[in-house]
Amino acid sequence: MKTMRFYQELISTNNKLAHKDSEFSLGISNWYKKNGRENLPWREDITPYRIWISEVMLQQTQVKTVIPFFNSFIRNYPDLNKLSSASEENVLALWTGLGFYRRAKNIFKAKEVIKANFDNQFPTKFDEIISLPGIGDSTAGAIMSIAYKEPYPILDANVKRVISRYEGIANDSSISSIKELWTLSKKHTPLKNIFEYTQGIMDIGATICNTKTPECKICPLHSSCQSAFSTIEKKAISKKINPIKYIHFELAYTDKKVLLFKRHKKTFWESLWIPYEADDDRSSLINKKEIESQIINIKHKLSHLDLDITVKLIKYKNIFNLTTNLEYLWIKKDEIEKFGLPKPIKTIIEGI
Ligand code: ADE
Repeated sequence: MKTMRFYQELISTNNKLAHKDSEFSLGISNWYKKNGRENLPWREDITPYRIWISEVMLQQTQVKTVIPFFNSFIRNYPDLNKLSSASEENVLALWTGLGFYRRAKNIFKAKEVIKANFDNQFPTKFDEIISLPGIGDSTAGAIMSIAYKEPYPILDANVKRVISRYEGIANDSSISSIKELWTLSKKHTPLKNIFEYTQGIMDIGATICNTKTPECKICPLHSSCQSAFSTIEKKAISKKINPIKYIHFELAYTDKKVLLFKRHKKTFWESLWIPYEADDDRSSLINKKEIESQIINIKHKLSHLDLDITVKLIKYKNIFNLTTNLEYLWIKKDEIEKFGLPKPIKTIIEGI
C-alpha cells in the first residue's frame, strides 16, 4: 500500500462514492470547525516537521501524556535545521518517560535520511514520507492530510473504533478486519476539508466515541451510525497478563555522580543508560570499598512485560574505572537530563 497507486485508488474510490461519503465526512468536518481541539500544541503553527514529531509521539501514547513531551522536544528542536545536528543520545534524552524508545531512535534515523536525501527539507510526497524510518501508512496519511492538506486516509485505534461502530462491523486485529477498515477509511476520506476531517475523526474517537462511555447524544454521526445508542460491544474485560521479568541492578554512585552503562541488547530499553545489571560479568564493580548500600524494589510495567526490579544502591567515596568492553560513564547526577534513561531509573537517581 506504499505506492502512488494507493493515492490514485483513493481518489477514484472517493469519486465513485461521493454521495454516501459526504454524510459521514461532512458531519465530522463541520463538527471539527466548531468543536475541534484547536488548542493542542501541534495544531498551532502547523509545519510538516511539527506534525511528524507529534504523530510519532502520538502513535502509542495518549494526547495528555504527549503534550509536555512535545512542548519540550520543540523547545529544544523547533525545526529540522535545529534537529539536524542532534545526536541519538540527545533525542533519546527528550524521550525519557514517554516509552517505546524505538520511536526516538527512528526519529534520529529519519532526520539523517532527510539530511542525506532530501536536502534537509521534510519530504512532500506520500511515497517519500512513508519510506522514512518509523512512519507507517497511518502516520504518513496523517502528515499528508494535516500538514499538506492532501486527501490521504488514516487508521489509528480511534479511527478504527469510529468507523467500525458507524458501519456496524467488527474491529479486531485480524487481517481481514484491518483490511476492511482500511477500505472504509479510504472510502470515507473526503477530497475537501481533509484537514478538518482527519483531525475531527481523531477528536471524535478520543472524546465522544470513546471506548467505554460513548456520548451518542452529542455525536454528529448518530443519525446514520449503525451502533448509535445501542449497547456497546462487550469486549471481555480481560486484563492482559504480562510475563514478569526480574532484573537485578547495582547502581554505583558517589555524592555527585552515578555509574551507568549503555544498553546494547536488542530488547526493551535498547540504547538507554542503565545501572550495572548484576547477572552480567562485570565483577570489577563489586571489589571496591563501598561506604554504604541499600536495596530497593520497584515494579514497572512495559507494554509486553512487567518488570520486577531490585536495585542495590551502592555508595562509593570516589569514582573508579572498570576493566570492561562495555560502554559506561560516570554521569553527574544533575546532568542525567542530557541522557536517555528509563523513567524508573531516572526516578531512583533523583532520589539518591
Ligand atoms: N492522535 C493521533 N494523532 C493525533 C492528532 N494529530 N491530534 C489528536 N490526537 C491524535
